[in-house]
Amino acid sequence: MSAVAAPLRLGVLLSGRGSNFLAIAESIRTGKLNGVEIAVVISNVAEADGLKKARGLGMPTEVFVSRGRKRQEHDADVIACLRAHRVGLVCLAGYMRLLSPEFVAAFPNRILNIHPSLLPAFPGLEAQAQAFAHGVKMAGCTVHFVDDSLDHGVIVMQRAIPVLDADDAHSLAERILAQEHLAYSEAITRVASEEYEIRGRRYVKRSSQSAD
Ligand code: GRF
Repeated sequence: MSAVAAPLRLGVLLSGRGSNFLAIAESIRTGKLNGVEIAVVISNVAEADGLKKARGLGMPTEVFVSRGRKRQEHDADVIACLRAHRVGLVCLAGYMRLLSPEFVAAFPNRILNIHPSLLPAFPGLEAQAQAFAHGVKMAGCTVHFVDDSLDHGVIVMQRAIPVLDADDAHSLAERILAQEHLAYSEAITRVASEEYEIRGRRYVKRSSQSAD
């Protein structure tokens, strides 16, 4: 009889409304996302709506207010909290704070972020508005591992949608958000499966042949 693997424990970090967190929680609840559980939801903003939603679902939550604190010291508290909750994968979900190099090093290739553009296009803030203003015909979202550069790490998963002539920046952002809610769970599924590996900048199935 083979032992059932323990679920991968997720630590979700958020600063705002928390719709991506809710989508992950819903995917777990409905069995679309298996083999993982949310261990803790952490925010750097005490009033974040996402925290209220997590509490409403009866999930463990923690707040470490970042305003006015040195990044490294604040991050040390967050790292300790993630460790105390035995987190195996950190999921940034609208976490509006750059991570210190120490944080990134504490969870190598074990921190995911979601960004509302097809990276490497339009990193940084207001990515959907940047894409709309640039007149792109395809937009979308990216889930990537976090490294020391902003919106830069290895890409785990992307979802793309056409930009419609009738779109404005707001409608485009809404349609990208719907894709984000699918993409994050799909990316976590890939990571949790342990069937993928990083080759250079590529995240590929272990069994796949490389022409390199
Ligand atoms: C999302 O658009 C995400 O891509 C970006 O911040 C936003 C967070 O939204 N990083 P929510 O808090 O998950 O609703």
